[in-house]
Amino acid sequence: MTETPARPYTAGHDLPVSPELAAFMAEGWAPSPLPDGTRVPGADLTPARRARLSARFPGERLIVPAGELRVRSNDCDHRFRPHSAYVWLTGLAGEDQAGHVLVLEPDGAGHEAVLYIRPRSPRDGGERGEEFYRDRRYGEFWVGRRPDLAEAGRLTGIRCAHLDRLAPLPPGRDAATDPELASVLSELRLIKDVWEVAQLQAAVDHTTAGFVDVVRALPRALAHRRGERWIEGVFDLRARAEGNGTGYETIAASGAHACVLHWTRNDGRLHRDDLLLLDAGVETDTLYTADITRTLPLSGRFSPVQRQVYDLVLAAQEAGIAALRPGAAYGDFHRACVRVIAEGLADWGVLKNPRGDLHRRYTLCNSGHMLGLDVHDCARARAAEYRDGTLAVGHVLTVEPGLYLQPDDETLPPELRGIGVRIEDDLVITEDGARLMSGALPRTADAVESWMGALLDG
Ligand code: GLY
Ligand code: MN
Ligand code: MN
Repeated sequence: MTETPARPYTAGHDLPVSPELAAFMAEGWAPSPLPDGTRVPGADLTPARRARLSARFPGERLIVPAGELRVRSNDCDHRFRPHSAYVWLTGLAGEDQAGHVLVLEPDGAGHEAVLYIRPRSPRDGGERGEEFYRDRRYGEFWVGRRPDLAEAGRLTGIRCAHLDRLAPLPPGRDAATDPELASVLSELRLIKDVWEVAQLQAAVDHTTAGFVDVVRALPRALAHRRGERWIEGVFDLRARAEGNGTGYETIAASGAHACVLHWTRNDGRLHRDDLLLLDAGVETDTLYTADITRTLPLSGRFSPVQRQVYDLVLAAQEAGIAALRPGAAYGDFHRACVRVIAEGLADWGVLKNPRGDLHRRYTLCNSGHMLGLDVHDCARARAAEYRDGTLAVGHVLTVEPGLYLQPDDETLPPELRGIGVRIEDDLVITEDGARLMSGALPRTADAVESWMGALLDG
């Protein structure tokens, strides 16, 4: 929790306000209500979500905080993103949700939802009358307008109360500290509704555009001493322009950096003979994220050994995707990916025996995960509902096998060392299998080469 700051939240060098200025600031403002009829996106879906949660905890007070601001340094905070469970239950996804709390109060057979928020501050010179022009954290003239209580009620369809009225209330189950509530909130979000799938498709489509931007920018990036950073910047520009930003830190890993699963330092130079592993996702304004990886030859053409590794990872991904269907065990697609990789490594003479788990020296991580509001979505779901569960229509997940052949691995022939390949796509489970959401990006080595060629010539 952040400390409760003094009000207004000002910094040491801010000048004091004279009584004359305070009086002057308290008058002469025209009314500026929000337009009638504005609702948060997906507002019609949130009552049913809250009802599902309510049914799981009859008679118990449930507390779902948006989360708190975190200080970056001195009077500067990190950009705020509300907790995914709060977003899912309220539809509120903005930076202005810091500190807000959704409470489900037991009410007869179910619960009544109440949103405790910091409403727009008044400009009347009263107790909070200076906040709008002096408060660096919450002031309208510093960070933008917030809705008042009535407006927030209309936006969300939820009764709203002032945050100051929350503290005296009795405790309840708090999603930030109660493992069971946190697990249920993850499990309820596992199956995406039609609107959520559309949000995820939008995230994927913006991500596709970001990958196109990156390929077009490769000549500039190759010329820069920190080409990986250039690529990160190009992708992140698209993410910020089209959505809320990236759903996770962009991984722009060239050469042997691609053997580091989450290489986000991105401070390397690009070399034409190397591969670039780009793992990146745009997060929409509604906070749904894509998670896509392509491994691209920086010259535009795979070398024979790069293509050998790439083709094995692609074959693994094809096998994983073919295993996706409702009713399949969640682990089936991972096992299908691994079988292909392990047999391929045995064919290359890298592994003596494709059975067992020795292949993990070269694959390092699982072959996918659920995707949604979080990149590693629903991570608090219990094993029976997720890892040991079965796939169902509306699950959205990644399939992302990879091979990470470390540059200093003496078990490998020298020509394979320092090659890292991951191919990651996003899929939604349908009645008859799975729909590839990220199919607009090429996957085969030939298709990658011709796509890059067309973009770089164009
Ligand atoms: N970008 C992180 C992952 O692929 O899971
Ligand atoms: Mn992933
Ligand atoms: Mn990824």
